[in-house]
Amino acid sequence: MNVILLGAPGAGKGTISKHLVDKYSMVQISTGDILRNEVKNQTELGIKAKSFMDSGDLVPDEVILGIIENRIKESDCKRGFIMDGFPRTIAQAEGFSDMVGRNNLVIDAILELEADDDLLIKRLTSRRTCSNTNCQAIYNVLYQPPAKEGICDKCGSELIQRSDETEEAITYRLKTYYEKTQPLIDYYNGGSNYHKIKADLPLDEIKASVDSIIK
Ligand code: AP5
Repeated sequence: MNVILLGAPGAGKGTISKHLVDKYSMVQISTGDILRNEVKNQTELGIKAKSFMDSGDLVPDEVILGIIENRIKESDCKRGFIMDGFPRTIAQAEGFSDMVGRNNLVIDAILELEADDDLLIKRLTSRRTCSNTNCQAIYNVLYQPPAKEGICDKCGSELIQRSDETEEAITYRLKTYYEKTQPLIDYYNGGSNYHKIKADLPLDEIKASVDSIIK
């Protein structure tokens, strides 16, 4: 099964992706995580992407499409993938549609996670992420705190705030979302595989909604 997760920053795409990975052994393809790893390793791509990411802007479409084209050809994707944070523009969606056709793939479900801005800002300013590249577990000091403050329950690494979690960057990310990504909702909506999910509910309820669609 291949799934696209749509939703604003903080809607819970990463959190729900990790649930799908744990429960169904699917593969999470997070363009945000891929880019952050490139930045951490100071690759040419990472150096190019950093300024866009820190300000809350989108990395150019052709860079992202290149990353996805390479990633979906890797053998683990045969288990089924979750697109987390991709596509994010109409150009990316059109490029991806061509790619899906060329690679004989099917997108089984498009899930839109929906929540209002006040909640998104509250979640993003209180999020903590595991600094270990191989873990990247997501916590929240208000809603899903770790057992020990500042330490990942899963791997014991330090928890950090992302560099795009300043109030200024979050505001800009939301603006970018409404301008460039929200049009995708009209682009995909209406298909039988499109599902809108209320994302302002307790996590267990959201997971149950997602599970019923996946099943
Ligand atoms: P990316 O990493 O994709 O960030 P994002 O889309 O802004 O989304 P987030 O990761 O911030 O939020 P999320 O929806 O995953 O929420 P989460 O599950 O963490 O992108 C970062 C940057 O990379 C972009 O700004 C751009 O520059 C670049 N980029 C990436 N992809 C790109 C692309 N395709 N094209 C161009 N540029 C690209 O949850 C948030 C918090 O809320 C957590 O603390 C979590 O614990 C908590 N939470 C979640 N759900 C619940 C709940 N139901 N109840 C209580 N708490 C909850």
